[in-house]
Order: sequence, then structure tokens, then C-alpha cells
Amino acid sequence: MCSIAALKENYQKFNPKAYLKNNYMPPRADFSTEDCVVPWKLRCLAEAFETGNIQGRTLMDIGSGPTIYQLLSACDYFDEIVMTDFLEINREEIHKWLQNDPDIFDWSPYIKHTCKIEGKGELWTEKLRKLREKVRCIYPIDIHQRRPLHPVIMKPVDALVSTFCLEAVSPDKESFDKALENITTLLKPKGYFLMIGALHETYYMAGEARIPVLAVNEQEVKESLISCGYKICIFKTYTMPTSLKIGVDDVQEIFFVQAQKM
Ligand SMILES: C[S@@+](CC[C@H](N)C(=O)[O-])C[C@H]1O[C@@H](n2cnc3c(N)ncnc32)[C@H](O)[C@@H]1O
Repeated sequence: MCSIAALKENYQKFNPKAYLKNNYMPPRADFSTEDCVVPWKLRCLAEAFETGNIQGRTLMDIGSGPTIYQLLSACDYFDEIVMTDFLEINREEIHKWLQNDPDIFDWSPYIKHTCKIEGKGELWTEKLRKLREKVRCIYPIDIHQRRPLHPVIMKPVDALVSTFCLEAVSPDKESFDKALENITTLLKPKGYFLMIGALHETYYMAGEARIPVLAVNEQEVKESLISCGYKICIFKTYTMPTSLKIGVDDVQEIFFVQAQKM
């Protein structure tokens, strides 16, 4: 396995458009069946928020990448959303989405599907408007730093979301655990952390970039969260079907966890 520095260097080749195509278009984004991975992720998030337990003033998304799907259900429960990413190219993609640039990825099927599963009769255009309004800033972040947002100073937030970040940027379990500790400083005590990630994955592709991934298992993720002071409230897994193994990574399973900082 490589070092944190080598991983960061490798991320400079990350191609957001290729990444979005690999993971967020058909066959992985097939909204006609709940058995598909993207609808599974959206349902996990919708169900977590609809309990009403996870709410507050500020929600922060760690390692947002070029994606916004992870915030579609959250936006009803927070006054403001802070997005973050290590790469300028990904932060730029989100800025373009906020400005409705014509060159952006089309998230409308995701927004429509989320409105459908939430079942509140909300117009998808209204959810789109709301999310755009609530995303207040997109900060640079490095989760390997003790103060991941440095030089930005923020009070701890009410909730954290992070999808496919920790295992995709950590060369070993020690740095995964340390990164988890670092981001946990950004969360208030009693605040919730919703994380989605890959299990048993060793790499993924994003254009020319072949990114090594730390192959963690369910037990390791749970142990890391508990050692970091979380109580695990919900843990779900999804097994990647053969039809979705399309050569862009070697992910075997996906997990969703809702944990509370004690
Ligand atoms: C696999 S992508 C996940 C993107 C998105 N959250 C999703 O659900 O598809 C991993 C993200 O981690 C970001 N990243 C890379 N190194 C990082 C670091 N040291 N700290 C925080 N984020 C980092 C990358 O720029 C990339 O956007």
C-alpha cells in the first residue's frame, strides 16, 4: 500500500466526469428497480432522515466529490449545508451545479426519485431549489490533518455525512482511524454521523486515475466507529450484484451506517 502523500498525488488525476459516468449513470443508476445500488443508497438516506431524529442548524458533508445525491433528503432537516472536498476540480463541479451551468451532470433523476420515495408530494424542482439555497459553502478539506478544514474555523456541526471517502483516501487502517478521529472533531457531541462506503474494495477508476482503496470489512468499520466514541444506531449492507460489476472498481458490498457521537 502507498503513503498518504502518494495517494494525494494520485488524486490529482481524478476525473470527475469519468467518476460520475462510472458510478452515477446506468447501469448503477437504474431507478426502475429498488434492487439497484443508487436507489438503495437514496432509500437508506431518506429513511434515516424521515425519523426526524437527525436535524439541526448545520450539516457538513465530508469529501463531497462532484456529487450532491447524498444531501437530497438531508436538506429538509437543516438550515444550511457545508460541502467539502480535497480537490479544486470537484469543488468547481459543485460550484457549477449551484450556478446551473449547462455543462453539469444531470441530477434530476436522483431528485425525482428522492421525492418519490419520501412520498411527501414535493415537486422535484422545489427540492432542487431548496438544496441549492442551503448549500452555503464548499470548503477545501484534508481529513488527514488534525484540523481538516484549516485555515477555516467552524463551530462543531449538528450532523456529518460522508460517502465513499474515508476508505478511498486512506492507505491503511491506522490512517483511516486517524481520519475518522479528525472529522469527528467537527461534530457536536450527540450529533449523528451518516456514512456510506465500500467494503472489500481495493481500487476504483476515475478516468486515468486508478485509486487504491483500503479494503475494510463490516467489523472493522464498526470497531473504528466505536473506538472513536460513536454508538452505532443502524448498520445496513448491500451486496453488489454481478450485473453491476462493470470493471470500474472491485467493490463487493456497500455499507450504510448511522452513528451517534457520545
Ligand atoms: C470516491 S470519491 C467520493 C465522492 C462522493 N462523496 C461520492 O459519494 O461519490 C472520494 C473523494 O474524496 C476526496 N478526497 C481525496 N483525498 C482527500 C482527503 N485527504 N481529504 C478529504 N477528501 C479527500 C476526493 O477528492 C473525492 O472527491
